[in-house]
Amino acid sequence: MKIDGKSYRSIWLNENGWSVHIFDQRDLPWKLNVVELKSPEDCAVAIKEMWTRGAPLLAMTGAYGLAMALRNDPSDAGLEAAYKMLVSTRPTAVNLKWALDQVYGVVQPLTPVDRAEAAYAKVNALCDEDVATNRAIGEYGLTIIRELHRQNPDRPVNILTHCNAGWLATVDYGTATSPIYRAHDESIPVHVWVDETRPRNQGALLTAYELQQHGVPHHLIVDNAGGLLMQRGQVDMCIVGVDRVTRNGDACNKIGTYLKALAAFDNDVPFYVALPMTTYDADMPTGRDVPIEERDATEVTHIDGLDENGEMKRVKLTLSPGGNLAFDITPAKYVTGYVTEQGLMSRAELIAKAG
Ligand code: MRU
Repeated sequence: MKIDGKSYRSIWLNENGWSVHIFDQRDLPWKLNVVELKSPEDCAVAIKEMWTRGAPLLAMTGAYGLAMALRNDPSDAGLEAAYKMLVSTRPTAVNLKWALDQVYGVVQPLTPVDRAEAAYAKVNALCDEDVATNRAIGEYGLTIIRELHRQNPDRPVNILTHCNAGWLATVDYGTATSPIYRAHDESIPVHVWVDETRPRNQGALLTAYELQQHGVPHHLIVDNAGGLLMQRGQVDMCIVGVDRVTRNGDACNKIGTYLKALAAFDNDVPFYVALPMTTYDADMPTGRDVPIEERDATEVTHIDGLDENGEMKRVKLTLSPGGNLAFDITPAKYVTGYVTEQGLMSRAELIAKAG
């Protein structure tokens, strides 16, 4: 990804070889604030408080946290305690547990003295794999956008997305946005409708910022606008990221995704879910079984923005109490296809992967 022309990943190892840098996403797009995470506790706070977020990226942050823990205490007890602390930071996305399991699986059989080095090597490799995976998702998703353009060559392909499943949610490229960047780079005209994604506004603050940095035409819309745009024929496809796809193909993603899928279904607009196969949880039967994170109600009752002096400010929106379920479930019947690094799949093809 490029920010003001400079290439970055969303997480990177410091020159010292053990701490990591991330962007504090709470400050975007207003400030590009790079922070250093130096301990498993730092990583846990960054995940819980959403300095870093998005299923693949919070997984890498957690995995580096485990590696950091092993520098200080590589004993069995240290490994177990750090794993337990990190895995509980955010419950909905399966990638966090998956990445921690990957590191755990590598280090657990080793003697304690060898664990930290092996953990860092594993997490570094997982980060590189995430980049390659997202690039492949971009290639497969590009075929969908190319075909939509072929059908309507005289206008841009209008794409609606929800939340942020872009490079800021992954190590690089993003999942849902990866095909959009590929299409734009291939000079296929695309235009993106960006859902603001209340309550934390990941669409307004992060996806819109990414698209703007990449030069992709887009408009920010309120979360309730997608239905009308679809009725008017102004959406050619929806594509979203996902925190967990259950064995039967149900997709658990940021709250509001389900309503977009319903509107898409009613208007014959294809609705795609982009995911690395690590987000497919074949052990969880259906979406009803996914733990849905409930976050602090102040995310709903208050909102952050810039005041007239350019200072970040929080204002209160209501006198009433808020409720804040952070994710919802889109039943598989509303998903047109799954865009993965292994190809574009139907629900049946995805399920066949589980064996
Ligand atoms: O609460 P967030 O901001 O971590 O939620 C992120 C999403 O819902 C993304 O769509 C999902 O993690 C996929 S990211 C590739």
